[in-house]
Amino acid sequence: MALFRKKPRTEEPIPNHIAIIMDGNGRWAKKRGLPRTAGHKVGAEAFRTIANYAKSIGLHYLTVYAFSTENWKRSTDEVETIMGLLEKYLRELIRDMDKNRVRFCFFGDLSRLSPELQQEARETAERSARYTGVQVNFCLNYGGRDEILRAAKQFAADCASGKARPEELTEAGFSDLLYSAGVPDPDLIIRPSGEIRISNFLLWQSAYSEYYFTDTLWPDFGPRDLDAAIHAYNRRSRRFGGVK
Ligand code: FPP
Repeated sequence: MALFRKKPRTEEPIPNHIAIIMDGNGRWAKKRGLPRTAGHKVGAEAFRTIANYAKSIGLHYLTVYAFSTENWKRSTDEVETIMGLLEKYLRELIRDMDKNRVRFCFFGDLSRLSPELQQEARETAERSARYTGVQVNFCLNYGGRDEILRAAKQFAADCASGKARPEELTEAGFSDLLYSAGVPDPDLIIRPSGEIRISNFLLWQSAYSEYYFTDTLWPDFGPRDLDAAIHAYNRRSRRFGGVK
């Protein structure tokens, strides 16, 4: 068998939109007697591999939870390491933009990030908007409740200014006020690391998503794990509240 395969390993139908909670970096490091920050470094590489693989199998949307509105509670050292990794990653993305040809969007309140990181995120999003292959939605300082609250406040403000009317609000109209405006809801949400909870991720958008949980820790999560999740997804019967 060839060591390097050009073709994607999976020959199955690919869901349109996969979202991943990149969890387990800290435990991965602890198991090896390393600082938590070492886990984030390897986790960032795991993300790189999965994003490339997603592109190679023709996935349209990949949404990843990189930093939540609650993650600021962690130690300064850990937060700074994650932010440093993000800065480095975005700088490389900007540098290799034409080679990667991946469209990047950011979900979350970026205003709390450093001015440099905000600028890099803006530049990445603007300059990659022309690519039409896989779209990576990077959730940074993101919280599902925060996202819904912001949309509600925006709608209230639109009503107060006469731009909108409460009785005319629809689900589709509300979706357009979220960070994910224009992005179809995730078909499959993957959470590695053995935790079985949603942790404030895509609360509105996940109404009919399929979940896949695995004990694999994020730094160990690779293309074969994504294949396994897609395989499990293809065996589900999605009814969206109806009968099949
Ligand atoms: C969750 O694991 C992971 C995070 C809160 C950070 C995710 C960050 C990365 C993958 C690195 C940054 C990404 C890029 C692409 C530069 P955890 O720390 O909660 O692990 P634990 O549950 O084992 O403690």
